[in-house]
Amino acid sequence: MKILVTGGAGFIGSNLVDALILEGHHVRVIDSLFTGKLSNLDDARKQGLGRFEFYNLDITEDEVVDIIKDFQPEIIYHLAAQADVRVSVNDPLYDAKVNVLGSLNILKGAAEAKAKRIIYAASGGTIYGDVDASMLPVNESNPKLPVSPYGISKGVVLDYLRSFYLTYGIEYVALALANVYGPRQDPHGEAGVIAIFADQVLNSKQSVIYGDGEQTRDFVFVDDVIDAFVKAQDKGGNLLINIGTSVETSVNRLYKVMCEAANKKVNLVYKGARAGELLASSLDNTRALIQLSWRPWTSIDEGIAKTLEFMSKSK
Ligand SMILES: NC(=O)c1ccc[n+]([C@@H]2O[C@H](COP(=O)([O-])OP(=O)(O)OC[C@H]3O[C@@H](n4cnc5c(N)ncnc54)[C@H](O)[C@@H]3O)[C@@H](O)[C@H]2O)c1
Repeated sequence: MKILVTGGAGFIGSNLVDALILEGHHVRVIDSLFTGKLSNLDDARKQGLGRFEFYNLDITEDEVVDIIKDFQPEIIYHLAAQADVRVSVNDPLYDAKVNVLGSLNILKGAAEAKAKRIIYAASGGTIYGDVDASMLPVNESNPKLPVSPYGISKGVVLDYLRSFYLTYGIEYVALALANVYGPRQDPHGEAGVIAIFADQVLNSKQSVIYGDGEQTRDFVFVDDVIDAFVKAQDKGGNLLINIGTSVETSVNRLYKVMCEAANKKVNLVYKGARAGELLASSLDNTRALIQLSWRPWTSIDEGIAKTLEFMSKSK
């Protein structure tokens, strides 16, 4: 099958491209290399000889529409995004340009190419906003009250997906991802804390926890997330689906697991909590189980061990 992946040189995108190439698909990647790296696609280049193409291109460029139309993909995975909450706060215009206008360009291309389905990387960590602890793990029918410009720009695309489905019949699946971590992750993404701690723990540097460390996140391993993306090719049509573990892990526990896995001593200071940081977050994954037959299988201990192994090898 012909499959387009935007953001395919990034952390999640490149892991997805590897899986698609392995399954025998013909994959075209569009990525501006803003945060992505060509080296993330080394395996895809080797394994996908004749079935892998890379376009170094910004999704906001007009040319993108023709490139999609020319390729006629059956499935489009849309992962290219400005994915840093802090950047969105400092420059909401730039964030909206990439995440809203860029996404519209991809949708326009999808309509012209008569693509069957678009699978979108939505943000489960920001779309629901600051959810009361009694509502956790949060499910998809919770009100969408994003706080950051990033949460808003990623969330708005859900309405466009629905609109393009109603107008052009392009099916969609919006996967609301929790805090994804694993090999190739860099420190700037939504689960950046794991990449930051990994570097500090492996190199015996001091780590800083802001607040008391009891703030929680839903950390989901990248291999499990890729499995959900693959399952969404023919399941879960026209739905928003949470992809998380339903489990809250505190930053203190995360740090402890990392020190144990790396066999290093705790080397930590606490500083004042950062303004605007969510206190707790986790996503109810019941819909994913029902609609995609998906559930995560990697424990935090196993995922952290794999991440540290990758990071220590790629130093
Ligand atoms: N990592 C997470 O925990 C997480 C959680 C929820 C949602 N997401 C979403 O998943 C997707 C992938 O995130 P990631 O963590 O792999 O981040 P990433 O930064 O590694 O990947 C984003 C990719 O998009 C590319 N890109 C950025 N701006 C572009 C532009 N204007 N034109 C073309 N390409 C552009 C980057 O070069 C990069 O390769 C994003 O849409 C993000 O919003 C990630």
